[in-house]
Amino acid sequence: MISIKALAESPGLTSIPPTYTFTRSPSDEAVSDDPEDSIPIIDFSLLTSGTPDQRSQTIHHLGKACQDWGFFMVINHGVPESLMKAMADACGEFFNLTEEEKREYGGKHVLDSIRCGTSFNASVDKVLFWRDFLKIFVHPQFHSPSKPPAFREILLEYSKRSRELAMELLKGISMSLGLGDTHIQNALNLELGLQLLAANLYPPCPEPELAMGMPPHSDHGLLTLLIQNGISGLQVQHQGKWVNVNSIPNAFVVNVGDHMEIMSNGKYRSIVHRAFVNKKATRISIATVIGPPLDTVVGPVPELVNRETNAPAYTGIKYKEYMQLQQSNQLDGKSCLDHE
Ligand code: SIN
Ligand code: FE2
Repeated sequence: MISIKALAESPGLTSIPPTYTFTRSPSDEAVSDDPEDSIPIIDFSLLTSGTPDQRSQTIHHLGKACQDWGFFMVINHGVPESLMKAMADACGEFFNLTEEEKREYGGKHVLDSIRCGTSFNASVDKVLFWRDFLKIFVHPQFHSPSKPPAFREILLEYSKRSRELAMELLKGISMSLGLGDTHIQNALNLELGLQLLAANLYPPCPEPELAMGMPPHSDHGLLTLLIQNGISGLQVQHQGKWVNVNSIPNAFVVNVGDHMEIMSNGKYRSIVHRAFVNKKATRISIATVIGPPLDTVVGPVPELVNRETNAPAYTGIKYKEYMQLQQSNQLDGKSCLDHE
């Protein structure tokens, strides 16, 4: 199947093919125009090196953000700006490889260690999405495409730094749930946990109001850390409306995934989000998904459930089966959790 990059670059393209055209419903269009509606901001430096007061306040904010929004922005996170930019540039260069070079990584299966493709799941999507993607498993085993030349080194460093950030955030989240700081990490054996890098390319689209970059979905892991190349496009569901997430330079956009919702027995929410495209600029976003080991069955943390007042609300399935279910794309804009 042709990449969206190649399609978008076809000479004289002024409209999108019908296979990319979405019919919008009124609820699709309900985007909040309230300037107060914006995802919370967490100052990471206060979590790691603030006074005890600042630290406990930040843990409280983190918990509230996970509960009320399922999304937050992380600033002062310590991951070098130059590394974030290098990672975005390297992904841009990967998508610039020839169609033939990229075909080498055109895997079919959701568990392939390196896989690039187009749309969401092009073999089952009824309407195609204006998006190319590259997905790489970087933990517990590190994989990397061998092209472009500098990709591997940048990916290795970026994966390491973003993982460190995620682990510190998980400590804060664990404490915000009233658990010890390493409770989540230990309970799920995250030493062997999955880390997946998913890079998305959204080229300029001649009719952005008719197309969709990424369909509404929730993320399967525990936490997702997203960076963007300065171009906005992400929208999240909040209180029945879509809210635009503006791209703050060098911030990470972090969200709760389905397995955090399960672990917390629904206290923290894995929120449906989607991505739009635009007419002028190429947008690149890079998601780092931090999840449990692939063979782990995750259920609510026993310390957080109580048979009388807070009965376990989820029955877990193996993480890798969960990922396959999500890819089956029978979800129609809902989270996998709605299907259990
Ligand atoms: C994602 O949901 O994984 C990415 C959305 C985006 O491109 O902002
Ligand atoms: Fe996502």
